[in-house]
Amino acid sequence: NLEVDASKTITKIQPTMFGLFFEDINFAADGGLYAEMIKNRSFEFDKPMMGWEQPNTKRSSLNKESGSALPINLSKEKNNSNFCRVEINNDKGYTLINEGFRGMGVKKDAKYNLSLKVANHNGAIKKIIFQLINKDQKIIGETSIVPKSEQWTNYTSQFTAVETEAKAKLKITFEGNGTIDLDMVSLFPEDTWKNRKNGLRKDLVQLLYDVKPGFLRFPGGCIVEGRTLSDRYQWKKSVGDVEERKTMMNRWNVEFNHKQTPDYFQSFGLGFFEYFQLSEDIGAEPLPILSCGMACQYNTGELAPMDELDPYIQDALDLIEFANSDVSTKWGKLRSDMGHPKPFNLKYIGVGNEQWGKDYIDRYKVFEKAIKAKYPKIIIVSGTGPSPKGEHFDYAMTELKKLNAELIDEHYYESPKWFRENAGRYDNYDRKGPKIFAGEYAAQSVSGANPNNRNNWECAFSEAAFMTGLERNAEVVNMTSYAPLMAHEDAWQWTPDMIWFNNLQSYGSANYYVQQLFSTNKGTDLLSITQDGKALIGQNNLYASAVKDVNSKEIIVKLVNTAATNQEVSIDLKGAKLGSKGSVISLASGNLQDENTFVEPRKISPKQSEYKVTKGSQQLTLPAYSVTVLKLKTI
Ligand code: AHR
Repeated sequence: NLEVDASKTITKIQPTMFGLFFEDINFAADGGLYAEMIKNRSFEFDKPMMGWEQPNTKRSSLNKESGSALPINLSKEKNNSNFCRVEINNDKGYTLINEGFRGMGVKKDAKYNLSLKVANHNGAIKKIIFQLINKDQKIIGETSIVPKSEQWTNYTSQFTAVETEAKAKLKITFEGNGTIDLDMVSLFPEDTWKNRKNGLRKDLVQLLYDVKPGFLRFPGGCIVEGRTLSDRYQWKKSVGDVEERKTMMNRWNVEFNHKQTPDYFQSFGLGFFEYFQLSEDIGAEPLPILSCGMACQYNTGELAPMDELDPYIQDALDLIEFANSDVSTKWGKLRSDMGHPKPFNLKYIGVGNEQWGKDYIDRYKVFEKAIKAKYPKIIIVSGTGPSPKGEHFDYAMTELKKLNAELIDEHYYESPKWFRENAGRYDNYDRKGPKIFAGEYAAQSVSGANPNNRNNWECAFSEAAFMTGLERNAEVVNMTSYAPLMAHEDAWQWTPDMIWFNNLQSYGSANYYVQQLFSTNKGTDLLSITQDGKALIGQNNLYASAVKDVNSKEIIVKLVNTAATNQEVSIDLKGAKLGSKGSVISLASGNLQDENTFVEPRKISPKQSEYKVTKGSQQLTLPAYSVTVLKLKTI
């Protein structure tokens, strides 16, 4: 017998309660959300011809005779300093092939936008033919351009694919005899999110949108920090003209447990402007996290000396100007020039990702002073480091409390059991202390990033059990997000992940649907739900939280049954007049190992049914291993 007291609001639920954490890991940006299909489009990778096959150059005499392609470095000073010089001999039809990001996803009847920059020396090359080829080398889409000028000139062309293929490549054939230079060879689907030119992959943004997230944290994660300070994420290099954004090696370009991704670079086509725009599109508060002058402590742990923090702090101040100031300011003008005259209304900024120890606290203090002096209303997110407990955690918490930190980011990647056993984690947190941002968490079916660490149902419902604890403690917990968000099935470095995709398809894991269920039913006011006066934190394998939504006039009860058998519950609702109908949304599977897949993407997904309100207590059967949301209209 459970009791919900609808007569008293314990606290308001923050609109930011359930959000998203985006990091360019697992090919989430280049090769994922950013819909560019050409890998290394401007020949800026450390090996400038990476991603570009010259099919015959080495192996057969044909292409040797027919030509060669070599990277040329214009100037080390420039961001986009390389281009590709192609020499074509004897009209033999020299070819270059771009392999895409583990291939290119091409859809039948879809239109594709090609663009590139070309300088045609002496007008020697008569025609360049672009062909999408499938696995069997069959042409499934084709266009061509006639390069006219000796000067760098932009060319564009649109064409339609005639077949669907997940691993297509782009073959470029040159007709003529002489030298031609190429740069920024780019291919995008026409059909992107909001039909933005050179925009984001529609299916992936749709999945984000459908969560109705309260905030979007970006751009990471460890990529904020970098392995060294010089390869930290620098937002200023990610804005302005796309061509001028400096490509760099991704911090996740690593040998990591299972495989290497040496071709993982950041083009920054998805940069800070696009992150702000995406946040706006999906109705989420933007939450950028910036380097605090500490490289990733798991790598070099390089530190910016305390008296050399100015450029880092300036980056934070300038970012706020970029997001919020008018066009009379330098950075506000850039935002406007990029197409968004209105401010993005930034309210939060994160200082450092997952740093710990005195080095972090010392640096945090300097940032806090500078940011608050200029922008007193901006809420600063600080962090406790990677572990949910222990020496570093305790130190950070103690120091940050002394400093009256506003919002503290905690991370936990733990077993499903840990999640079930810690649903009461925040029950005793100081109500007057700093607010909590559970910024990265995910139940790990086994430890470490490896193919056996799955997005299985046990992990997902254990997170749900824990999340009832987050919600019950909305007084202190103001923001939460699962991590990591996305992974390419052929190019990941971390498991588990909330959304899986390949070049054509994407699906939400069971964990995704848990997040969605909580976020879309977060309500506005926290109510108490108890059994014999106590919160449900796993007694009889039951977990629960309750809210009301003053807008939809509903009472919403979330119940998680982690037992292997069904459980009957009876809910006594005090202080609310119920209408006659409600609904029940259920996420369930009898099998702990079950998961969603490309073949069965909605195997574990919400099922909604009508609920008939009864007089007196409400009766409900909670299936074995289930997450249930009961929604009751009030009158
Ligand atoms: O989410 C993957 C990584 O986990 C993040 O980059 C980092 O913050 C944490 O260690």
